[in-house]
Parts: sequence; C-alpha cells; structure tokens
Amino acid sequence: MEKIIIFDTTLRDGEQAPGAALTSFQKLEVAAQLEKLGVDIIEAGFPVASPDDFAAVSAIAKLIKKGTICALARCIYKDIECAGEAVKKAKHPRIHLFLATSKIHLQYKFKKAEDEIADIARKSIRQAKKFCPDIEFSPEDATRTEKEFLFRMIEMAINEGARTINIPDTVGYSYPQEIYSLITEIINNVPNINKAVIATHCHNDLGLATANSLSAVLAGARQVHCTINGIGERAGNASLEEVVMAMKTRKDVFGKFYTDINTKEIYRTSRLVSKLTDFLVPPNKAIVGKNAFAHESGIHQDAVLKKRITYEIMDPHDVGIADSQLILGKHSGRHAFRDRLKTLGFVLNDEQLNKAFGRFKEVADKKKAIFDDDLRIIVEDEVRLTKPTWTLNSFEINSGTKIKPKAQVVLIRSGKNLSGVSSGDGPVDACFKAIDKITGYKVKLEDFRLEAVTAGKDALGQASLKLKVAGLSVSGRGSSTDIVEAAVKAYIDAVNKLETK
Ligand code: KIV
Ligand code: ZN
Repeated sequence: MEKIIIFDTTLRDGEQAPGAALTSFQKLEVAAQLEKLGVDIIEAGFPVASPDDFAAVSAIAKLIKKGTICALARCIYKDIECAGEAVKKAKHPRIHLFLATSKIHLQYKFKKAEDEIADIARKSIRQAKKFCPDIEFSPEDATRTEKEFLFRMIEMAINEGARTINIPDTVGYSYPQEIYSLITEIINNVPNINKAVIATHCHNDLGLATANSLSAVLAGARQVHCTINGIGERAGNASLEEVVMAMKTRKDVFGKFYTDINTKEIYRTSRLVSKLTDFLVPPNKAIVGKNAFAHESGIHQDAVLKKRITYEIMDPHDVGIADSQLILGKHSGRHAFRDRLKTLGFVLNDEQLNKAFGRFKEVADKKKAIFDDDLRIIVEDEVRLTKPTWTLNSFEINSGTKIKPKAQVVLIRSGKNLSGVSSGDGPVDACFKAIDKITGYKVKLEDFRLEAVTAGKDALGQASLKLKVAGLSVSGRGSSTDIVEAAVKAYIDAVNKLETK
C-alpha cells in the first residue's frame, strides 16, 4: 500500500477566500481539530502577510505535536526569513516557496525572463534551506507553464534540495486527463524526480479540483493539497473530504493507496470550519452537506430501508455523521443532554454545559423534537469563547398587513438595559434599526439568509448575515424557533464582532 500525504491548506489558501478571515485563536482551534483529523501537513499561514498571521503560525507550530507545520513564502528574503522564524518551534517545520513560471505571469506580473525566474528560485531555495531542511517548491500556475521550462525548474529545485515539488493548477484551468499527462511527463522528463515527492494543488474554478487531484494521484502524485469544505481563493480548492472519501470508497481504483485521515472526524471538522469562517456548507455539498445522506423520495427511502447500499455509496458513520434521530425532548435531563453532546464530540466545561442546557430547555419548550443538528446549533450558538459586549434582553414587534412594522428591542450592556424603538420595512428590518439606535453604529446590511436547521413546522431557524461599518465587514449567526429572534441574534452577534475588531 502507498500512502497519500494529506497537505491541508485550510488555514492558508482556505483563509484567503474572500470573507473567511480567522483570528489567531480560531486558527489554533482549527489546527487542533486538523491534528485530530490526522492530516499530515498543516499549512498554517503566510507569516509575512501580517503580524497576526505570523503569530498564528508560530502558535500552531508550538501547539501541534503531530505532523508537519508549514509556512508559505514568496521567493523574497523577507518572506523566507519570516516563514522560517514562524515555524522554527515546530517538531517538523516546512517552508513552502512559490514562484510563478507561466508565460502569462512572467510577462504581466513580473516582466522577467525565464532565466531570471530560475535564478530567483534557486537563490530562494538556498536561503530557505538555511532556516529549515524541509522545503516544498511550487512553480505557480504550473498547468499553464511551458513544459520545457517547467521541467527545468523542477530539476533545478530538486538539485537545490527541495523535497516536495508541488504542481499547482492555480487558476483551476486543467482537466483530469491533462493533469494525468502532465504528471506522467514530469516523471518521464525530470531526471532527478525520484528524489522528491510530487504534490498537487488544484483550484475549483471549473468544478474539477477533486477530479484533477485524484487523476494526479493515479499518475504518480503522492501528496494532495486540499481544504476543509473546499474553501479557498475564488471557487476554492480541492476539498479534503471529497478527495479522501473518493479514495476510500473507490477501492477498485484507489485500492493500493491509503491516507492517515480519521474519516470519522470529517463532519466535525467541516462544521467547525463552517462555524468559524461563517461560510455555510451548501446542503448538496458532497460528503458534508445536510442532504448528502438524506433521502427524500419514497422510492429511495423504501429501498434504503431494505438495503442501504441501494442509494448510499458511503456509510454516514464513516464521516462522523450519526443517523439523524429523535433524541431529546423537554423532559430530558442534564445527564442525557451531556451524554448526547459527548457522542456528538462536544466536551464542555460546567459553565458551558449550564449555558447550553439552559438554552436547550428553552428550545425544547417550543419544539417537540430536538435533533442532533438542533443540538449542534444550540452548542455552537451558546458556547462562545469570548464574553459578548451586547446581549439580547427582549424584543417586541407590532406588525400586520395594514400597519408599518414597529419594534422595540432591549439590549444589555455591562449589566444595564438599553432600549431602542424603530419602524422598518418589515419586522426584521424594524428590529435591526432599533438595535442600530441603541449601539449607535451606522450599519449596512450586506447579506442576510435564513434556513431551517431541521425539518418540521417547529424547526430551529438559523439566520446568518454580513454587516459593513466604515469599510469593516463582519458576519453573524443566530438561531431560534422564531425566525425574527434568530435574525436579531445574528445581528447582535455581528455587532459584538464589530466591538472586538
Ligand atoms: O494556487 C496556488 O498556486 C497557490 C500557491 C501558493 C501554491 O496557492
Ligand atoms: Zn492556491
């Protein structure tokens, strides 16, 4: 069996997705979960990009004991020094150097000739080796690079000591057969290629990132760059859960390969990344979407009950999804609640448990059946790591077909009740305006979405929104069986993030 190395770049390329910025603390939380998931390499960030990024990479390098911690650097001395410094406390540090090699980039981005680019890369790899023995080199935009030049760059990088050569499909332009041929040609034309591991880094602009990564593996790549939920620049990167589950499920094709991923941690990791980045996972997303293991049509339901494999190619338990089931109600006690949360992977301290249990009781009073997804939302919503500046005391709305909706909202700040009244274009708008009156922020609502977490008339609704104030964008989430309350909570959540920024 041959191992496929999983290089997770959620915290670097994933975090480059517009709007996905994470705090250092959140990055640490994700890194700890990636360690549990069993990824081999965590690309923790781009240290030269900001002091925050540097701090996050350094903290991850100190905290994570399993696997390699990698930092990205351009072929610029300042970047290399910064990356080397950030990963120096890691048990297994790596510097990932990249430099574009395609004609388009050379002509328009750098205005440099091929030889100059080769020189810069050579010097940079030498410099990087002084900081760290493990160097990965990426000829950026490799799939649109002239083959001869690409082979020359790879050979030089390996001669200078790069141990991994990554072949990025930077703009997601390639397709599976093409990537297959490219990797095959690299193997056949680069004389020292057996001294390095070949990696892939596929973007999803044409929706082919996973297919391209798998094709590269079949051709000889032994390391795959991917991200949780496929987040990343533009349309994102190859999604870790898809790549890993495709190899596990299609043993007939990928039988000679294995990964060290503990697939049972996939769903939990997906939820964590979605929660922290505020990127909702589309319901039809492969492996981790809400509908990935749901069967709606009677014919499918009937067949699945008879034999699961009629319409399910994977067992939901394998990715950490428990069968959605009716588990708790308003008569359930703290013990059952704690037990169920433990099964779902949440380990809470007493204070967090009390908070979550209080909220559970509130929801259970309004909703007959509490499903696992309801519980997840309750915990994610209630167990915040920082104390919010504003909390909701109450709200009242007066609305109908013949009157302009009016809302009164009461918020608590430092133990004091502060009230605001406003009319609006609808009850939600009236509440938002009332909140603005209390906080004094001049807020622009950029995005607002409501979705039901579970089925039924009494479903828990989840609101997510984005606010912009003075050029600063923040997102918020809130849930309740009452959709106006869910929206109000999401708004307050976002306002609290503004406060911390
Ligand atoms: O997409 C890309 O080419 C990259 C490089 C830094 C590898 O992210
Ligand atoms: Zn990328």
